[in-house]
Amino acid sequence: MGKEREGNNDRIGAILKHVAIIMDGNGRWAEKQGLPRLEGHKKGVEVIRNIVYETSESGIFFLTLYAFSTENWRRPISEVQGLMKLFKESIDKYGEELVKNKVRVKFLGRKDGLPHNLISQMNDLEKSTIGGEGLNLNFAINYGGRDEILRAVKDIYDHNPSLFTSLSEESFGSYLDTKNQPDPDLLIRTGGEKRISNFLLWQIAYTELWFTSTLWPDFTIEEYHQAFQDFKERKRKFGGRV
Ligand code: IPE
Ligand code: IPE
Ligand code: MG
Repeated sequence: MGKEREGNNDRIGAILKHVAIIMDGNGRWAEKQGLPRLEGHKKGVEVIRNIVYETSESGIFFLTLYAFSTENWRRPISEVQGLMKLFKESIDKYGEELVKNKVRVKFLGRKDGLPHNLISQMNDLEKSTIGGEGLNLNFAINYGGRDEILRAVKDIYDHNPSLFTSLSEESFGSYLDTKNQPDPDLLIRTGGEKRISNFLLWQIAYTELWFTSTLWPDFTIEEYHQAFQDFKERKRKFGGRV
């Protein structure tokens, strides 16, 4: 799949290497129809499947999905437990399919703090997809941008303190969870809020932002394409002159 993807310049993947998505609105989607919030999260997983497939088909190399923030522990224990169970069930259900489609999965965030059986499933999925030559799929689980930056600083202090004297943006970036990955070109947030909620703080310095009030379970391929279209019309300057 990798070679074909490189060859086709008509697809959005030619100019869009990395998409990041804050998948918000699951709870409100469920509440609107009198369902428990977890039903919204379940529907959200089905949308993830479609979006992963479409991203890969579009020739985009990296997709980063925000699934659980370091602040989401503040939710009622029943919702947190329901989400952890849903993560496990989703890996069980879709893990093989990801391997078959040559998707390479990486989890961003702090694994410690998550349930032990979920951690081992996450490690297994990362191992079994490591050779994947297709889409690079990052799931941010127990992820916070500030936490990631602090972990990187501590990692350098513990393992390579002499680096502090010559630290550059590039060398610092190699201590982040997204090491060796390009920064996102496009960040999509569904659910109507216009904020970042502690997502990829370092990496989105020059990312194009795209917001929609559509709740994540209602997000469609058509709307995804609309975001691509808007992205195409943006003039990226990175501080320079175009
Ligand atoms: C996003 O949906 C998914 C997670 C944070 C796990 P929400 O659960 O935040 O949905 P709303 O924003 O309450 O509708
Ligand atoms: C952001 O959504 C986190 C995820 C989508 C995983 P939240 O619903 O947690 O964000 P806030 O609380 O509205 O900022
Ligand atoms: Mg929300």
